Amino acid sequence: MSKRTVLTGITTTGSPHLGNYVGAIKPAIEASRKHDVQSFYFLADYHALIKCRDPQVVQQSTLEIAASWLALGLDTDEAIFYRQSDIPEISELTWLLTCITAKGLMNRSHAYKAAVQDNVEAGEDPDSAIDMGLFSYPILMAADILMFKANDVPVGRDQVQHLEMARVIAQRFNHHFGEHFVLPEAVVDDDVATLPGRDGRKMSKSYNNTIPLWLPEKQLRKSIMKIVTNSLEPGEPKQTEESALFAIYSAFANAEQRAEMKQAYADGIAWGAAKQQCFELINSEIADARLAYEELVAEPDRIEARLQEGAVRAREVAAPFIQQLRDAVGIRPLG
Ligand code: TRP
Repeated sequence: MSKRTVLTGITTTGSPHLGNYVGAIKPAIEASRKHDVQSFYFLADYHALIKCRDPQVVQQSTLEIAASWLALGLDTDEAIFYRQSDIPEISELTWLLTCITAKGLMNRSHAYKAAVQDNVEAGEDPDSAIDMGLFSYPILMAADILMFKANDVPVGRDQVQHLEMARVIAQRFNHHFGEHFVLPEAVVDDDVATLPGRDGRKMSKSYNNTIPLWLPEKQLRKSIMKIVTNSLEPGEPKQTEESALFAIYSAFANAEQRAEMKQAYADGIAWGAAKQQCFELINSEIADARLAYEELVAEPDRIEARLQEGAVRAREVAAPFIQQLRDAVGIRPLG
């Protein structure tokens, strides 16, 4: 039996934070060690261009995210780890798919519709400041996925619609040109709770409540000390429900540690002491990887070389497939 193919992309904007680590990076790295799947993980730098027009930020973020995955132990012998823009076949496939994608399908994209609605509410032209990158984004994402015949695509809830669109696009292509594409499925892990940020809302750069993954130890401690709690004094029993601190602690704790902290809350642990324990737990999990990360970031050439190796492996799949697809649509040698 052939292996199932698992594929996911990471948009290279911003620096990774604890929410990215718990919700995406850690589970993906664990999955990459399995032998019964072929995984493809890639840096979605073309997707980054949709959100970011600062070349320095795009490059720096690509470096930081690549270094993070490698430092945390992604097994690049098993998983194929590459940068989207190193695979020119993906751009080519994007065009082939663009030509058969209904504009009406793209009109229904949540991200696009939200942008239109913001404009309407602000009294602007509906398409004000909306560029074609945002509008066509799901087609690029479909190309990422269909190129490697992915079966399973681990994503957050917000990406489920994009997977449905990839299926519709694949079916339409298959209908016209023959059964070339595998229909992918979104895999949304509901066990991986979304990590709250320091203020209790979802940890997200847009809320400015993140705890960056690679802060130096002292700053990591400071950032954890800033998690919002209430004014209960030491000795007063505390609730674990609705406690961002408890949720963050729990994401790193084993069952026993979690139960102990729950008891400590009931016994009235001081917030400062609970935060200190949270810091120690998180720090012990990531301290070694932090060293590896710092070394890697200081040697970008090593990261570049790893990405180029990944690109070679990815193109071994992509190059013959794009030939097959070109042929299918009639882009063929003459004679
Ligand atoms: N759009 C995804 C996100 O913002 C990132 C992404 C790009 C992706 N291409 C992909 C995810 C292909 C899965 C498969 O999270």
